[in-house]
Amino acid sequence: SRSIRLAVIPGDGIGPEVVAQGLKVLGSVLPSDVKLETREYDLGARRWHATGETLTGVELDSLKQHDAILLGAVGDPSVPSGVLERGLLLKLRFAFDHYVNLRPAKLFPNTATPLAGRPDIDFVVIREGTEGPYVGNGGTMRTGTPHEVATEVSVNTALGVERVVRDAYERARSRPRRKLTLVHKNNVLVHAGHLWKNIFDRVGQEYPEVTTDYLHVDAATIFFVTDPGRFDVIVTDNLFGDILTDLAAAVTGGIGLAASGNINPDGTFPSMFEPVHGSAPDIAGTGKADPTATVLSVALLLRHLGFEAEAARVETAVAEDVTARDGSFRTTDQIGDALVSRVLAGSVTG
Ligand code: NAD
Ligand code: IPM
Ligand code: MN
Repeated sequence: SRSIRLAVIPGDGIGPEVVAQGLKVLGSVLPSDVKLETREYDLGARRWHATGETLTGVELDSLKQHDAILLGAVGDPSVPSGVLERGLLLKLRFAFDHYVNLRPAKLFPNTATPLAGRPDIDFVVIREGTEGPYVGNGGTMRTGTPHEVATEVSVNTALGVERVVRDAYERARSRPRRKLTLVHKNNVLVHAGHLWKNIFDRVGQEYPEVTTDYLHVDAATIFFVTDPGRFDVIVTDNLFGDILTDLAAAVTGGIGLAASGNINPDGTFPSMFEPVHGSAPDIAGTGKADPTATVLSVALLLRHLGFEAEAARVETAVAEDVTARDGSFRTTDQIGDALVSRVLAGSVTG
């Protein structure tokens, strides 16, 4: 019989609140012959205060044994900024070689958007996940003096860029519109920018059926707002992808709906699924967190593990729920319950 060994990292702030709903929906959609084994990892602010640890080597080895990881969010105002983000979240992305950070952006019917004319938005950002300015290559000199210098060097390797660009072409090829846009800033960041553009063009010769486009990142932000329908698949570096995907969330119904998968396409390591948003300390404990982003991340997780029909059922339940919203307040738990009901109803009718 089939089984899923799932590692769960609820984390900080609203992380545990939204992850509870994600697990509820996962439990409701899985066929009865699939055995779901979850193991929860106590990682984040509480643990750091208690032991000073962010993620131990033993835990990393243990996490490696799972089929996938579901993560809520990490980061807390009581912990110096960066300690948990780097020591836990980025450590996992790097250690498990999550070089494809998959972030779909889709505007569901009737969903509120600040954009005029309610355009059709259905694109996916492929954000590189293991390189760029995120590697921690830098430092400070003359610390504490008026002449202090801080550097943060972006690392871009031909192998690292080519593998994510290739993945993006493959995804673009399998979508109806077959369009791939590279976003960078090669008019200023000439070293990294030309490496990306050269590889993008060279690999593109193997995909004549894919239409290609290039945009500088500043111009890309214009089109996210004025003409988002022009995008199908976007490939970009780690930092640009981070910024663009919060913007993409904001124009497709809000950060509470934005899902992501940190994918290791080679299958050597478990992939990790998490909402795009953070721990939202401003609303933690109030019941205001929308768990939909986590639920949609569960759908990405299901699809990654080969449960396509179940992934589609979760996505349908979300589309129905989001489309039916009338603006009245629902708690995190109520939204989770509504999604479970729709998933169960979907199993009867379809
Ligand atoms: P954030 O995404 O946590 O919050 C930004 C805004 O969006 C806040 O107003 C918040 O209330 C709102 N929001 C976020 N998720 C929501 C949801 N599900 N429903 C409704 N509203 C939601 O970003 P931030 O404030 O920049 O960061 C807070 C902390 O989270 C920081 O420590 C940051 O480093 C961390 N962070 C972690 C992750 C992650 O674990 N993947 C991602 C982003 C930020
Ligand atoms: C995200 C977050 C993280 C990132 C931070 C918390 C390290 O903003 O997942 O988008 O920048 O990748
Ligand atoms: Mn981000």
